[in-house]
Amino acid sequence: MSSHPAPEPAKSTRSAGLSGRVRVAGDKSISHRSLIFGLLSVGETLIGGLLEGEDVLATARACRALGADVERLGEGRWRVRGVGVGGLRTPSEPLDFGNAGTGSRLMMGVVAGAPIQATFDGDASLRSRPMRRILDPLEKMGATVVSCAEGGRLPLTLKGADRPLPIEYESPVPSAQVKSAVLLAGLGAPGVTTVIEREATRDHTERMLRGFGAEVSVERHGEHGRIIRLAGQPELKATAISVPADPSSAAFPLVAALIVEGSEITLEGVMTNPLRTGLLITLTEMGADVTLANIREDGGEEVCDLVVRGSRLKGVDVPAERAPTMIDEYPILAVAAAFAEGETRMRGLSELRVKESDRLAAVHAGLAANGVESRIEGDDLIVAGKGRVAGGGEPVETHLDHRIAMSFLIMGLAAEREVTVDDGAMIATSFPTFAPLMRGLGAEIEMEASK
Ligand code: S3P
Repeated sequence: MSSHPAPEPAKSTRSAGLSGRVRVAGDKSISHRSLIFGLLSVGETLIGGLLEGEDVLATARACRALGADVERLGEGRWRVRGVGVGGLRTPSEPLDFGNAGTGSRLMMGVVAGAPIQATFDGDASLRSRPMRRILDPLEKMGATVVSCAEGGRLPLTLKGADRPLPIEYESPVPSAQVKSAVLLAGLGAPGVTTVIEREATRDHTERMLRGFGAEVSVERHGEHGRIIRLAGQPELKATAISVPADPSSAAFPLVAALIVEGSEITLEGVMTNPLRTGLLITLTEMGADVTLANIREDGGEEVCDLVVRGSRLKGVDVPAERAPTMIDEYPILAVAAAFAEGETRMRGLSELRVKESDRLAAVHAGLAANGVESRIEGDDLIVAGKGRVAGGGEPVETHLDHRIAMSFLIMGLAAEREVTVDDGAMIATSFPTFAPLMRGLGAEIEMEASK
């Protein structure tokens, strides 16, 4: 198992109005995929704006182990010389994905569709996460689970199919990772691989596959779903990629500026892919003063500058269908909800139980520790917003979860007393510049290691 860094307690205190213009790091989903598609294509893929967080660096190492030549040219600038779908090699060592669910699950799809074998491992958080949702369809395509921990968990060894079968798969869970693993395995299969989604999830894999020259069609399915079809065995062609700023990272300074009175900040170049904008829609319903300025395109995605001002928020009811478009944003939405007036009900959050931590339980406990009432009813989280947060509680337990750590550090910026978290070290997995970027806006955040 990979060891994680020593716990790094952190705290935040009530801050004066935030101000400034910043660009958060590159999108994590697109960063993982840029490296993986670079590996799977022939030629040189040049990436700009890659997120250099621990999760993505683990994927870069795995791409090297599978045969790609991966080189860092400068800040966020990377070059991948790929081997093509048919040129992958069996890695000599286990692939260590650290904390990264996306990297490990997508790479399982890659391995499943090739005549190679690989062992996947990660930290305690990743070892506790369900992999059966990925392994089930990959086995249908001809891959074999050689060994795994109980319940199909990591560490596991997967043998790819000599002749992968194209399948039609309807995922029982709304998951872009499951969809992507099936499509990646489908690259090695003759014929058409089909994924049916009852609820559309982020579509970066489909968009990027097209960008690399694969034939992908997308059809609407029912009210919220999609059918994705991929023609197998394409020759993927290396291309240049520009990674837009990550809306899931932007969510933290965004909510910070809303809850800290007198703030006005601009977040540059944030991706507004419609399957990632659930938080923006929800915050707008809550009364947030957010303007989408300078709308343009970057890396095949729509981006804009978000201008955010301190706002009085009110509680809202967030429908379950919105969950896939803001699945990573519920912890920080819960913080916004705590500062709102009135109750916010977030519906249909079963997937939050299987993220880097059980986020439903972690958010509920962190709110309670800091004097905010909330309750869990079935798969719903209800936060009783009182327009103010006491803070001053015991350190919030973050359970190796970067987003729990960042969310509660943001809460402390507007709480009456300081908010502490037991470990901010995991923030480096997705947003290594979080603390300095927030401090640059005027936020009082202290990480123990940098004291
Ligand atoms: C991701 C998909 C989501 C999300 C994760 C990134 C992706 O996971 O939570 O942070 O890049 O495909 P699920 O597919 O498990 O919902």
